[in-house]
Amino acid sequence: MPSSVLIEGISTQLTGYGFVDGRKVDFSYSSIGDTLLFETLGRGKRKYHKVIEKKSMNLRNPGCEYFTQCGGCKARHLPYVDQFKYKAEHLYNYYLENYKIELELQPSLQTEEYRNRMDFAVFPQAIGLRQEGNFRKIVDVKECKIQSTQSNRELRAIREYLVPFAYNRKTGEGFLKYITLRFSMDGELTTILTFTSLFRETEFESKMIREFPEISYAKNIIFCYNRPQAEVSAVGEFLVVKGREFFQEKVMGKTLNVPFDSFFQPNLPGFKPILEFIQSSLQDSKNKRMLDLFCGSGFFSMLFGEFFEEIYGYDIVPSSIQKAIDRCNQEYPNKKVQFQVLDLLTLKENILFFEETKDTILFLDPPRNGLGTGLAKKIGEGRFSSIFYISCNPESQRYDLEVLKENFKISRGLITDPYPHTPHLESVLLLERKNDLFV
Ligand SMILES: C[S@@+](CC[C@H](N)C(=O)[O-])C[C@H]1O[C@@H](n2cnc3c(N)ncnc32)[C@H](O)[C@@H]1O
Repeated sequence: MPSSVLIEGISTQLTGYGFVDGRKVDFSYSSIGDTLLFETLGRGKRKYHKVIEKKSMNLRNPGCEYFTQCGGCKARHLPYVDQFKYKAEHLYNYYLENYKIELELQPSLQTEEYRNRMDFAVFPQAIGLRQEGNFRKIVDVKECKIQSTQSNRELRAIREYLVPFAYNRKTGEGFLKYITLRFSMDGELTTILTFTSLFRETEFESKMIREFPEISYAKNIIFCYNRPQAEVSAVGEFLVVKGREFFQEKVMGKTLNVPFDSFFQPNLPGFKPILEFIQSSLQDSKNKRMLDLFCGSGFFSMLFGEFFEEIYGYDIVPSSIQKAIDRCNQEYPNKKVQFQVLDLLTLKENILFFEETKDTILFLDPPRNGLGTGLAKKIGEGRFSSIFYISCNPESQRYDLEVLKENFKISRGLITDPYPHTPHLESVLLLERKNDLFV
């Protein structure tokens, strides 16, 4: 028997929620005041609520025909100002109540065409994005509203040519697994096609090397090859078919060469408030050393290395570390620059950086799960004068702070939103050592 529920609020994940048998239940894509008719299906952990009918007064046009089918955007049905409020308000209140700190809030100025990288899966029947809640199914996406007009033009131009090469995950036929489009602030488009390794040195490949540059608008074209079963894009052995293997981004007056396979902030204008926050906090810094943990290919080291005499960085990915070494040595030939591959989360190896933490500012930019108690404790014991903790998951950051707060206090914080229509945010906290005498 179907039941009915009234949506009473919106969660921080941007889902609507109502109460079923006294328990709070989330319903995707709903608005406050909606009445939903639903069926409860499955059992135990697999129990879910399938909406059969929705009565809503929300007539807002989500502006994308794929919204609710594709798993990308979660909240196009809500006005952006409301999205930001639901995402950020609870964090603002939490820091105010628990740390007496008023976080600076910076909503996004651009809510469409903001992502500089999109990865589209290629299946025989569809080229597009994963279906909401089903990794194996693809929604055929002809254009994506959160990527640039130029990237959409590229997607339209190349899809028909590429369809016959699609890799069939069931039969193993075909070769092409992913299309990755990266568009720089200066308008440089890089198209990366990821094939199964079996495509290498075939007659199909030679034909495509000849024909594809005629069809594509991209300045740089890269073919990438990895194992047929690997569901990863723009990774592996590669071939530059046109242009070069990196593109350029200008950030805070510096030109960065971004290798086609490297992480780069997906929305630079949306991330800029964080960079400005760090830069303004560093203006009067007298610290000798910068320690960049989870440094990737040295983004923060490159941008802020000028404030320090020595630059140290650690990350688990060897190719990123090599890029950080090359870039920072070139940018800062007269400084001491040292980057090293290290698994920072298992803490198995001898963590050299703790030997010299005095006169040091620490940059932390961990993956979504944060530092975890082990590393947070270790950092808490260090004599760093301050810490910039940058996070793409303010929830895990909040958890880590529970450990760090013993020795560090928050002096400033900022939340910004490089990811409109999704539940994600970015934040930065500036932490200062509590006991100056000890430092
Ligand atoms: C959010 S990214 C930050 C990258 C860099 N700060 C930037 O802005 O380009 C997180 C980084 O953590 C690294 N990482 C993930 N797990 C790690 C681990 N166990 N030990 C060290 N680094 C790790 C990833 O390789 C990635 O570069």
